[in-house]
Amino acid sequence: MDLQLTGKRVLVTGSSSGLGEAIAKALAAEGAGVVVHGRDRIRAEAVAAAIRTSGGDAEAAIGDLAADAGADAVAEAALSGGPIDILVNNAGAYPHLSWENASAADWRQTYEVNVISGVRMIQRMVPGMRERGWGRVIQIGGGLALQPIADIPHYSATLAARHNLTVSLARELQGSGVTANTVAPGAILVDAVQQFVSDIAPARGWGETWEEIEPHAIETLAPNDIGRFGRAEEIAAAVLYLAGPFADYVTGTTLRVDGGTVKGVH
Ligand SMILES: NC(=O)c1ccc[n+]([C@@H]2O[C@H](COP(=O)([O-])OP(=O)(O)OC[C@H]3O[C@@H](n4cnc5c(N)ncnc54)[C@H](OP(=O)(O)O)[C@@H]3O)[C@@H](O)[C@H]2O)c1
Repeated sequence: MDLQLTGKRVLVTGSSSGLGEAIAKALAAEGAGVVVHGRDRIRAEAVAAAIRTSGGDAEAAIGDLAADAGADAVAEAALSGGPIDILVNNAGAYPHLSWENASAADWRQTYEVNVISGVRMIQRMVPGMRERGWGRVIQIGGGLALQPIADIPHYSATLAARHNLTVSLARELQGSGVTANTVAPGAILVDAVQQFVSDIAPARGWGETWEEIEPHAIETLAPNDIGRFGRAEEIAAAVLYLAGPFADYVTGTTLRVDGGTVKGVH
């Protein structure tokens, strides 16, 4: 099936690793020109080079989206190759803090990195999409926006903000040909998640090997109907759908890809 993404230009923020990397590679495999982004030039260039080696079209844009100057640099680099049709706001961080040890500064910084980062890119990319009469803004949100847990409250609140601003943006873009949607992953097995789980596993008696650890980790951290962590490629597949013309009639929605982690009607 042709998803009709050939020739579209996409900026995937935070695509130097994890979900963003999988999303960038999937879009490139469908024929889109991809701008790979991160703060670390070596990692971002390596992902872009891997895409080109596989026959795709990719370049890198570097900058810290927690500040206006970084966002300006990323926008300039991304637009230097042509207009951006699709913006995937994926860059973010989830420092493992609790109500007890997350300071006001941690809350503020997490909001800056996870929410205002995306707003900065919306401000820089959406006017061009509007002018051209077609575009996509896809936020990577998360199940913790809908079903928060006791830990990482500062992070869950930023996911809720992403979900919320997506809906407002969809209303703002009414009739423009530009849509705004959220993909809400459950617990997805990227390197950072596997590292965190492996670090806490010994103290919890979850076993030695990943095969032993995963079922315990899922049962405790993200119980779901499928019984495993999700894979980055499963998030990328949802982005592929929302990014293309098949989703022209979908805006202001949240597409959960979480194995049924979130219970209830959301
Ligand atoms: N993995 C999950 O289970 C899960 C679930 C729900 C939602 N999410 C969301 O998915 C997104 C990607 O997470 P991930 O799990 O793939 O983690 P990851 O592998 O750590 O990727 C995070 C990406 O964001 C970039 N980044 C971090 N801070 C940045 C900043 N200030 N400015 C610019 N770029 C920045 C990182 O690049 P550099 O380090 O090079 O800057 C990296 O490319 C996050 O927004 C996260 O909230 C993840």
